[in-house]
Order: sequence, then C-alpha cells, then structure tokens
Amino acid sequence: KMNLMSGNRVLVVDAGGRGNAIAHAFARSGSVERVYVAPGNAGSEMMDKCRLAAIEGKVPRSISELLAFVKKERIDLTFVGPEGYLSEGIVDIFQEDGQRILGPKREAAVLENSKCQTKDLLKKLSVPVPPCQNFSDPQEAKEYVQQRCSEEPGRGLVVKADGLAAGKGSIICTTPEEAASAIERIMVSPRLFGGAGDRIEIEDRLEGRELMFFALSDGHTVQAMQSALDYKQAFSPDESVAIRLFNKLAGNPNQDNNPNTGGMGGFSPHPWLDEELTERIMKKIALPTVRGFKESSGQEYRGVIYFGLMISEDREPAVLEINVRLGDPEAEVILPRLQTDFYQLSMAVVDGRLDELPLQWSDDFCLGICAISGRAIKPLSSTGPERPGYPGEHYTNMPINGLERVDPEVIVYHNGTAWGTDSAGNRRLYTTGGRVFTLVARGKSLAEARAKAYENIKRVRFNGMRYRKDIGLRYI
Ligand code: GLY
Repeated sequence: KMNLMSGNRVLVVDAGGRGNAIAHAFARSGSVERVYVAPGNAGSEMMDKCRLAAIEGKVPRSISELLAFVKKERIDLTFVGPEGYLSEGIVDIFQEDGQRILGPKREAAVLENSKCQTKDLLKKLSVPVPPCQNFSDPQEAKEYVQQRCSEEPGRGLVVKADGLAAGKGSIICTTPEEAASAIERIMVSPRLFGGAGDRIEIEDRLEGRELMFFALSDGHTVQAMQSALDYKQAFSPDESVAIRLFNKLAGNPNQDNNPNTGGMGGFSPHPWLDEELTERIMKKIALPTVRGFKESSGQEYRGVIYFGLMISEDREPAVLEINVRLGDPEAEVILPRLQTDFYQLSMAVVDGRLDELPLQWSDDFCLGICAISGRAIKPLSSTGPERPGYPGEHYTNMPINGLERVDPEVIVYHNGTAWGTDSAGNRRLYTTGGRVFTLVARGKSLAEARAKAYENIKRVRFNGMRYRKDIGLRYI
C-alpha cells in the first residue's frame, strides 16, 4: 500500500507527557508527515512535525469533536493514550465511521475499568491472581475481612474500588480495623471514589516485588514490550521531614505515610525483568489473558495491555491489575528506546499483522525525572491555607524558566504546561498541573543517563518545583 510509505498524518489523543512521547515516536517515522495531538499541552508543539489539533481555533476534546477533526484533516491513524476515552468507546465510534484507530474497544476497556469483572475473568482463565473476592454489600465485605484475618493474623489486605479512580482506588491495610475503615470510606461514607466504589474487591497483600509489564496485541499475536522501573511514592525514603510536612499540610492522620503518585520518574530497561521472566509472564499471563478475553467475549484485544504484577521470591507472577494503555511516565522512558518504526508497527496492530514486525529496542538506558508542583511560595493573590503540593493540593499557573538551557539531546516531555502572557506582555510557559514535565536523558549506562538527567533538570525552575533525587540511584 503506497500510503504506508510516506506522507501520513497521525492524531494522538492524550493530554500528558505520555502523549508527548507517543507523538515523538510517530514523528521519528519516515512514513509520517504530521502528528497532531489533542487535547495535548504546550510540549505537543515543540517536537519536529508535531502540532496541537484545532478546529476553528478550538482544541477538540469530546469524541465527536475528535472524529470531526480526523475527517477534516484526513488523518490516517489515531492512537489513544488514556483509559477514559477508551472506556467511553472512542475506538468503537471511530471504527463505525471507517477510521483507523489503535486501542482496545469499549468492551475490552473493562479490563481496566472493572477490577471485579477482570479478577473474575482471570480466575476463570486460571491466570494467577492473589486470593480475592468481590463485594457489593459493605457488611459482607467486613465479615470477609474478619474471616480472612482470623485465619491468618497479621495478613495484609488490599481494598480496591471496582471502577476508575485515577490510579488512587487501592487502599493497603495491615489490620482488620484498617480494612473495615477502608470499606466504610469507599462504600458508605464519604464514598472516596464515588460510584467507582459501589463494588469493591478485597485481595490478600502478596509478598514480593511489583513489576509493570507492557505488551502489544493485535488480537492474535502478542509481543512483550520493554518495561521501566518506576517510582510511585512522592518522596524518597530519606525525606522524612518533607513527608511529615506534606501530611501535616494535607491534613492526613498518618504523618509518616509517603503518598503515592501516578509516578515520579523511572528508567528503562528494567533492571531485573530478564528474558526468562519475560517468557514466563508471556506464557502464564499475557497470552492466556488476551486469548481468554477473545474466547469469553468474542472480541479481539487490540492495543497496549499493561499488567501490574507482583513477582514472588521464586519468580512467580500474579496479576494485581490490568490497564488498557501505556503508563505515564513509563512511556516517556520506554518509547525513546523503540527502534521499530512506530507508524508501521501501529498499522500492523490495527491490521492484525503484528507477527510481521518484531519489536527492536536500543540497548541505551533512558532515565526520566518528573518535575512536579510541590510546596510553593504562596502567590500574593492566594488566600487560604498553605498547600502541600502534588499529589495533594498545589498551585498552578507558575511561570517556568530555563527550559532553553537544557542540552539539545535531552528530551523534555510536558505533562502539564500551557503558553501564556506575563504582565510585561512576554509569551511564556506556565504550569497547569501536578506533574509538569518529565525530563528524559539517554546514556550507554544507567549512570550516564542519570548524571545527564540530574545535571539538566537543575537548569529548570518554577515556584514550587520539586523532584525526587534518587531515581535510578540504587541501580547504578
Ligand atoms: N504510571 C502509572 C500509570 O500510568 O498508570
């Protein structure tokens, strides 16, 4: 097909740093002439070939606006980043209109948006999961906690809201009292995650090490992707003073709890995901899940599938959760290492020809540091209490300085930025979110990538900017 070769136009649907990284991957393809991003951010326009999507000066956001954009601009392929659009059925709607789009359909997005249904399916398929049960009645859930904890005193439990909760829907409990309180807060009052907590899943807390595993599926062929070691907690373990201050300002009862975030950085390749473990995960988890999903639903799973796993001491994996997309910030350190042409690869997934295109990766290391909106000097315009910073309440609309001093070979993927005008009339970049940007450096070794990343991030500043100082440190 001639149109595979050159001059193709792509739309990436994503607002964050992951979207910048996906757009950048497409832009590196010789087959691609233009990459549009929607809703995107200021970083979406800073890479070669990349532009923010707009119809009559307005950024398309709803599925119908995105579809109108795709038709007007004669887009050849749409790639969807976040789970929300997938759960709303963007893939079904685009396909009904004859558009090429990469991502799972609405029915497949259930693997992320219902933890209860997913665990039921995995159990049926004999894919390993922790011992777990679903509940829609809080009283029955509390009785289960009592029973589980009397069988084995000291057992840890995880209480999870069934639905989408922006990655915050899991509460780890070390006592039956904590688990009962989590059930109450999710299901009864204050209903921490709204309707997502109408049902819950309670699972045993397994021992081991957590691992994110990414694979690409066209419905028949499943290929393992490379992974990243990620840093979920907001602070490094030695920042006890900062952790206490955060919890005090956030009004959290547990002063020593290091809060979870969507991610504070990471690096790829993953230091202990070797070939043997990859094969084991493919055989015991990824392949049976994709094939079993097809047998039980009649539908092919097309797109990225992302398993949150616990790996036991004897290297046995169990599925804690499934996501139907790439991770953010994992994509920012994984995708720059992909050598396979991303447009050709995406077309192979959409057309069910993934077997023709083996994934090839650079041996380089990529290390990414997320700069987040931390505790800031309070703006004069602000009244009210001091804000603890991301992942809690934080200020936005802070001007960002120094991005022009970053080395040209170091990549800055933007998570939350926008252009604005300062009081002197100068066009400047401003922060718009908790995570602001992910700076990614590359090296022949992890130490080289790490040194480059930390040297460069020091050149950038905004009021309240904070980042973890220990990304990759234990592994160099
Ligand atoms: N970084 C975790 C996620 O994207 O879900």
